[in-house]
Amino acid sequence: MAENLLKGKLGIITGALDENSIAWKTALKAHNQGARFVLTNAPIAMRMGAIKELAEECNTIVIPADATSLEDIEKLYTESKAYLGGNFDFILHSIGMSPNIRKGRSYGELNYDWVNKSYDVSAISFHKMMHMAEKMDLMNEWGSIMGLSYIAAQRVYPFYTDMADAKALLESIARGYGYRFGKSKKVRVNTISQSPTKTTAGTGIDGFDAFYNFADKMSPLGNAPADACADYIITMFSDLTRFVTMQNLFHDGGYSTTGISEELMDQFKDL
Ligand SMILES: NC(=O)c1ccc[n+]([C@@H]2O[C@H](COP(=O)([O-])OP(=O)(O)OC[C@H]3O[C@@H](n4cnc5c(N)ncnc54)[C@H](O)[C@@H]3O)[C@@H](O)[C@H]2O)c1
Repeated sequence: MAENLLKGKLGIITGALDENSIAWKTALKAHNQGARFVLTNAPIAMRMGAIKELAEECNTIVIPADATSLEDIEKLYTESKAYLGGNFDFILHSIGMSPNIRKGRSYGELNYDWVNKSYDVSAISFHKMMHMAEKMDLMNEWGSIMGLSYIAAQRVYPFYTDMADAKALLESIARGYGYRFGKSKKVRVNTISQSPTKTTAGTGIDGFDAFYNFADKMSPLGNAPADACADYIITMFSDLTRFVTMQNLFHDGGYSTTGISEELMDQFKDL
């Protein structure tokens, strides 16, 4: 389905690690909808090589950048502008990582150096990417900047430990920068709060299968797949959503506003 929703638009897509990544699917769809963009990921992700295949498919280049480094972001933006031949209409921040989750630390036993790392990679990098785009005056008017969140930013999901706090910060940054960028350049900033999704970042969380299945049974439409999330991101990058800003948009099949589903009630009937 190529409606050319992003025809003529230029942008940056972070976070495509492999074909399961939300960013990977977004890149394919953005290409299909007529956008031109540069792909980027942390230097360590480059070594895995898969992103180069995606770049070939999307007829573009990959520029490595650690999203926590202002220096890397500046280089990424400078080289991307030169390659694309213009300022940006969209930026996708699709980045998340918690060393505490990786090492299985519980919420009461967090390593605080790692907490800082989680916040920096998963939330503050969003601020840094917008700060640099503003400083270099790289966003076109009516541009769109998106980050990806999870409902643990609002409600307790014990296994999500410090990532819950990182996502709360990410959503707050979307509001803060959305106000600022809206005023200065008519640029909108939003987060999508996505269903549990089977990606490297998702399945790295302890007990992922249980909460994936629970959310699926709790959502009247079932869990939203990565492919549908990519569709939503495309609409948020398009001109059809120009006045949506500073929002955390639930893309979860109805999970966030369902109290309980009949399927789950059945499981507790005879206890
Ligand atoms: N998978 C889920 O269940 C789920 C649910 C809600 C929100 N999200 C969010 O969606 C986003 C994308 O994750 P995904 O599920 O597609 O998983 P993914 O593992 O495919 O993507 C995460 C990406 O972050 C990149 N990254 C990590 N550290 C980085 C750094 N310092 N600089 C630049 N890039 C870095 C990784 O290389 C990877 O490409 C994340 O923000 C994640 O938290 C995921």
